[in-house]
Parts: sequence; C-alpha cells; structure tokens
Amino acid sequence: MSRRSVNPSRRVSDGGLPSVGGLFHHKSRSPPVLTIALVVLGVILLIAYFNSGSGVTVTSREAVSRSEGSCTSEVMRALPYLKKAYGTAMQKVLHVGPDSCTVVSNLLKEGKVEAWGVEPYDLEDTDSSCKSLVRKGFVRMSDIKFPLPYRSDSFNLVVVSDALDYLTPRYLNKTLPDLARVSTDGLVIFAGNPGQQKPKVSELPKFGRPAKLRSSSWWTRYFVQTGLTENEGPLKKFEEATSKNEYKPDCQIFHLST
Ligand SMILES: *[C@@H]1O[C@H](CO)[C@@H](O)[C@H](O)[C@H]1NC(C)=O
Repeated sequence: MSRRSVNPSRRVSDGGLPSVGGLFHHKSRSPPVLTIALVVLGVILLIAYFNSGSGVTVTSREAVSRSEGSCTSEVMRALPYLKKAYGTAMQKVLHVGPDSCTVVSNLLKEGKVEAWGVEPYDLEDTDSSCKSLVRKGFVRMSDIKFPLPYRSDSFNLVVVSDALDYLTPRYLNKTLPDLARVSTDGLVIFAGNPGQQKPKVSELPKFGRPAKLRSSSWWTRYFVQTGLTENEGPLKKFEEATSKNEYKPDCQIFHLST
C-alpha cells in the first residue's frame, strides 16, 4: 500500500517536479486535511477578493461624494440664482476652480452666456468634452498664484470655487485683486465652510496643501482689509431669490464689487 503510493511520487520527482509530486502524494493520502486546506484557502481567497472589491467601491464612492460636497458643485446649484441676481451682467463669465469644464459647459449649454474657465490644478483626467473645451480655448490650466492670462475687464462676472481656500494670505493678497482686475460687474466667491469635510489626503497632491476653511468673519475682515466691498445690488437679489426657493448653499458665497 505504502509502496504503491510512494512510487508515483518518485516518478513525478524524476520528471523534475519533486515538490508538486510530493504535495499531491501527501494530500491524496489524507483527503480530510486536503479538503480543509482547500476550503480555508478558498475562504481566504474570497475574503481577499471581496476586500479588494469593496476597496475599489469605497474609493469611487468617496470620490463622488467629495466632488458632490465641493463648492464647484455648489456653483452649479447656484447658477439659476446667480442669473437672477446678475441678470444681463451674466454675459461673459469666467469660472476659476477645479472641474471648470463642467461649469463652463453648463453655462454654454444655454447659448446666451459666453463662458470661460480656469482650472488651477490639473487637466489630466478629463473626459473628451472637456478636452474639446480646452482645445477650443474655453478652458485653460493656470496657476492662480500668478496673474491670470486675461486682459483687465475681460469678463462681466468672475466666479471662484474651491480655489482660494488653498491659498495662504500672502498669495490671496495677489490673487484676489487679480480676480477683481479681470471682471467688470462682480466677483462671486464660493468658499468652504469651516465645518465642511476636507478633501482626502490622497487628493492633496492635486491641491498642493490642505484647504484652510475660514469663517465668514475671517473673510469679511479680509475683504475689508483688501479694499473689496460687497456687491449690494446683486447680493440683495441673490438673497431674495434663494430665500424664496429655500435654497441653502453648503458653501459660503460672497458677492464682491470689482
Ligand atoms: C495682505 O494684505 C493686507 C492688506 O493690504 C496686509 O495687511 C497683510 O499684511 C497682507 N498679508 C500678507 C501675508 O502679506
């Protein structure tokens, strides 16, 4: 009995696969151990599979919720109210912030608004419609720490989201007046709320540094210091329109004269 079972193993090991032969041989002699080992292996593989699977799902869900919680998506929600507030001044609009392609294509869809976009971080993982906007010159990448690549008074309205939160006061001092420089009728700033969820650490390389979510009193003080004043007319209309529709933005929205 033992002779017969040893012999095949020897033949296999002669063939150059001693360990495999030995393994088969050993397993065939003790089927319960083999079964248990296989079941355990299967369970481990299944756990590994589902863990990696759920890992992927969680990541994409986080990515979605992050972009949903961003102030750029808030710009999209606020567009109807901005139109009411600014009326004919919504003719030439510049959006500055991540995901600018989405804002620009939304604005262009209606045909009445001319829109341009500045993407401050990167334009690498963009879809074909965004690439086409970039090719046509509607959207461009530009580091907002440096002067914007536009002439003064190029736009009626400049809308900024998810961009100033990443600048230190030193850069804000340069960037904010430059945003005002290129617009004639107003500057609308969407800034994160201090209580808001911050981007994941994995997103940081894109933005360069963690967002500094400042309070509304900090911003107000800062605007006064910088000599920027509230854009009273549009602000009043904006508040009327939003309160009528019970729209409550998740971000702070500032309307400044330029
Ligand atoms: C930014 O500008 C304000 C007002 O001009 C000034 O008080 C402040 O010191 C400046 N901050 C930095 C970091 O340069």
